[in-house]
Amino acid sequence: MTQTKIIDGKAFAEKLRADIARRVAKLKTEKHITPGLAVVLVGDNPASDVYVKNKAKQTREAGMNSYEFRLPEDTYEATLLAKIEELNHDPNVHGILVQLPLPKQINEAAVIHAVDHKKDVDGFHVVNAGLLATGQPGFVPCTPLGCLMLLKDTLGDLSGKHAIILGRSNIVGKPMAALLLRENCTVTVAHSKTKDLPALVKQADIVVAAIGKPETVKGAWLKPGAVVIDVGINRLPSLSSSLPAGGAQGGKLVGDVDFESCKGIAAAITPVPGGVGPMTIACLLENTLKAATAS
Ligand code: GUN
Repeated sequence: MTQTKIIDGKAFAEKLRADIARRVAKLKTEKHITPGLAVVLVGDNPASDVYVKNKAKQTREAGMNSYEFRLPEDTYEATLLAKIEELNHDPNVHGILVQLPLPKQINEAAVIHAVDHKKDVDGFHVVNAGLLATGQPGFVPCTPLGCLMLLKDTLGDLSGKHAIILGRSNIVGKPMAALLLRENCTVTVAHSKTKDLPALVKQADIVVAAIGKPETVKGAWLKPGAVVIDVGINRLPSLSSSLPAGGAQGGKLVGDVDFESCKGIAAAITPVPGGVGPMTIACLLENTLKAATAS
C-alpha cells in the first residue's frame, strides 16, 4: 500500500493569491497601474452566479479592480458583442472574461473571437490557442494552468513522464495536452470514443481527468504510484430531498475520479472540492496581472 498524498489545491491557491497581491501592490506603486478584470454574465444560471461572485471577491482581495456586467437571459448576440467591443477599448480593463455557458441564441465562438486576444485572460481565443499549440508565449486557459502548477509542485521535473488526459475539450483537454508536451511529457489524449480506457490509464505516470462524469476513473485502472489530477466537479443527486448533503443545491460534490478506490494506489491525488477548483480563479488573477503588466 502506498501512502497517498492529498494535494492541497486550496492551500496552494491561497499562497499564489498572496504572491499575486504582493506583485499587484508593486505594479501600483512603481507603474501606477491597477489591474482591472471585467466579468460579463449573461442570464441567471445559479452555478455561474456563484463563480462570478467568487471571481469578483478574489479579484478585489488581490488589490485589483473588478468590473461586473450582468445582462438578461434574452440578450441579443449583437448587444453582447457591442459590450465586448467597449471593454476592448477601455484602458482600465486589462482582462475580459465572458462567463460560459451562454444562452442558446448566442454563438460562443463568435463571442470568444470578439475579445481582444491581449485581454483574453481565459486563454480561449484562437490566437492564444495557436500560440500555446506552437510553444509561444500567450494566455493559457486557467484550469489546465492550475493543473500544471500542482503537477510541478508534486513531481518537480515532468520530462519523460507518460501523461494521459481524459477529455479533449478546448478549455481543458487540448490546452492541457499542449502544456504537458511543452514539459516534455509523452501525452495520450483519451475521449469518449477511446477503446479500452483502463488499459491506457494503466500505462500513465500522470492522469488528468476532465470528462464530466462522476467517479469514473477507478483505483484498479491506475499504475501504482501515478499522480492523479481530478478536474471534474459533479454534484450527485441528493439522497434526501429534505436534508441536502452538499448544500442548498442538493447532493455531494464529487470529481471524475473515484477518490476512495485510488487511495493507497496513487502516489498523489487532488480532492474534490479543494483540489483543482481553487487553482482556476488564482490562475485567472495571474493572467489578469500578466495582461496589466504587458499593457
Ligand atoms: N465557466 C466555467 N468555467 C469557466 C471558465 O474558466 N471561464 C469562463 N469564461 N467560463 C467558465
